[in-house]
Amino acid sequence: MKKILVTGGLGYIGSHTVVELQSSGYDVVVIDNLDNSTEGVKEQIVSISGRSIDLVIGDVNDEQTMNRLFQEHNFYGVIHFAAYKAVGESVDNPIKYYQNNITGLICLLGAMERHGVQNLIFSSSCTVYGIAEDLPVIEDTPIKSAESPYGTTKIIGEKIIQDYTKHKNINAILLRYFNPVGAHPSAKIGEFPNGVPSNLVPYITQTAAGIREQLVIHGNDYNTSDGTCIRDYIHVVDLAKAHVKAMIFVDKMPNSVDVFNVGTGNGSSVLEVVKAFEERSDIRLNYIVGPRRDGDVEQIFADTQKINHVLQWQAEYDLHDMMYHAWLWQKSISRKIN
Ligand code: NAD
Ligand code: UFG
Repeated sequence: MKKILVTGGLGYIGSHTVVELQSSGYDVVVIDNLDNSTEGVKEQIVSISGRSIDLVIGDVNDEQTMNRLFQEHNFYGVIHFAAYKAVGESVDNPIKYYQNNITGLICLLGAMERHGVQNLIFSSSCTVYGIAEDLPVIEDTPIKSAESPYGTTKIIGEKIIQDYTKHKNINAILLRYFNPVGAHPSAKIGEFPNGVPSNLVPYITQTAAGIREQLVIHGNDYNTSDGTCIRDYIHVVDLAKAHVKAMIFVDKMPNSVDVFNVGTGNGSSVLEVVKAFEERSDIRLNYIVGPRRDGDVEQIFADTQKINHVLQWQAEYDLHDMMYHAWLWQKSISRKIN
């Protein structure tokens, strides 16, 4: 059985990906420092997949831990999720982000090289496109300078991997995620937002659960059909499955590095998301329209032809499924808190 190292595998996208890897027949080893997750996620993963995971509580920046890990296991490939992701915090504390997201990647690449592990999948983001001139965005759409240090870490991370794979024996796939939302249909794993959520979907579900009083829609005077911003929301289980497809393809690639958008290809406005949530939860959401949020992109959605054809991957869940599963997850964690 091929063995995969998943860094940050107890986090939101990592935990869903571990489940999909296991159900596709891979063995999984996770390294996570629990900075934004808990050890309890491991049991939830095992209860979904029925398969055990080797878990190392440790930091990808710790060379000794990484060496030990690579000595103990013969990895076929690595999926690198471990990073910080809060855009606002990255503006206030950029060094924290450069330290973890860039240094962590460099440590990982060093360990892969020393131990002869060739296959890497990297979590990138549509944030690298900034305000794109042409929509939908294709993978060749020019990269813009980022709006935040977090975004810069993704641009630099991609560049480091591109340079590295030119001269080293490493194959890499860069996955540019659009807006991951939702949760596993079992409601056993999902996202734990840290403090007050800045992302739309957790804010919606927390408002419906009575944790937040009211959702504020950040502006309805954009040049879109209903005036609210447009994003390409992607169900986290579909996103997880894209990693499995990438792992199958990564060592058969004609080039040593390739990049894929991961979205549905459909743009949805904030009001459409709210409506889909109301329809699937049967709850009327308390919301108002407020001013625009600084730094928001008016609209962005993916061209997904490349990933559809090359990786043979297609999103299966629609916006209503995303909202339904996000709501099931919110209800399950609210029950545990109360
Ligand atoms: P998350 O915070 O839920 O998961 C990240 C996991 O990595 C956490 O469990 C955390 O404890 C762990 N971690 C962080 N630094 C570590 C370190 N140095 N060593 C070991 N473990 C460490 O985040 P997520 O939403 O699952 O995102 C995963 C990846 O996808 C990140 O690289 C993120 O930047 C990227 N991404 C996320 C989104 C999104 O909207 N969620 C969008 C685009 C890209
Ligand atoms: N929104 C609201 N009210 C809220 C929260 C969000 O109206 O309380 C709106 C935003 O203004 C935006 C849309 O909902 O129009 C989506 O906002 P999110 O914060 O959920 O997502 P973003 O697309 O703004 O940000 C996401 C990731 C970032 C990443 C960025 C890349 O969260 O990590 O995509 O484009 F950098």
